[in-house]
Amino acid sequence: MTKLSVNINKIATLRNARGGRYPDVLKAAIDCQRFGAEGITVHPRPDERHIRYADVLDIAPLISTEFNIEGYPNASFMDLVLRVKPHQVTLVPDPPEALTSNAGWDTLANAGLLSEVLAEFKRHGIRTSLFTGTEARMIEGARAVGADRVEFYTEPYADLYPENKEAAVRPFVDAAKVASDLGLGINAGHDLSLHNLRYLVQCIPAILEVSIGHALISDALYFGLENTIQRYRRELQ
Ligand code: PXP
Repeated sequence: MTKLSVNINKIATLRNARGGRYPDVLKAAIDCQRFGAEGITVHPRPDERHIRYADVLDIAPLISTEFNIEGYPNASFMDLVLRVKPHQVTLVPDPPEALTSNAGWDTLANAGLLSEVLAEFKRHGIRTSLFTGTEARMIEGARAVGADRVEFYTEPYADLYPENKEAAVRPFVDAAKVASDLGLGINAGHDLSLHNLRYLVQCIPAILEVSIGHALISDALYFGLENTIQRYRRELQ
């Protein structure tokens, strides 16, 4: 069954809006797991506008499920991940000024960098995943640089879903076949929600994990965090 990893960056964004410690992201990490999340995802950015590097160090010992750290592999990110040794690192090609991740890797143009950093994570026993689009050659490139998994960038799916869900999911179904044939595990994330999640995992049962932040934390304003996590879990069943 597909695992739900809750991205808690938005809780840190809310905390940072006022300074101080409220809402408490450490408590949020513990509670998300208590409420049924099967993993916690954090995405520290160089300007620390969401989750901070210090948060990541503090959260790590509180993880009883699976810890996934996402980000661009610059020197400080590499140091952080190698210090924390999470279960999984997801590399994302986002420049520091990006509002959010908005593209997958060009695994061919960045093959040198990716091979080097993935090998380093592997040496430390950390599972690796590369954020990618659905182009077959980029998925083949992910395999060639040594990734264990790909995480499909699902914003294009989410955008088209309301209009034509069959067309929205088709490139992802094809990409999943390419990834599975290459022996790559499949994760997915970005703009997944209570509206579009079930159909995605029904069409692609091979998805091992989804990481969801924005919609889930927004839904929690209406339904509460525990109820929301349970609702997302039900969509995955
Ligand atoms: N996966 C990756 C690689 C991301 O960068 C993000 C956004 O930080 C997500 C998943 C979660 O996206 P959303 O916040 O839209 O659920």
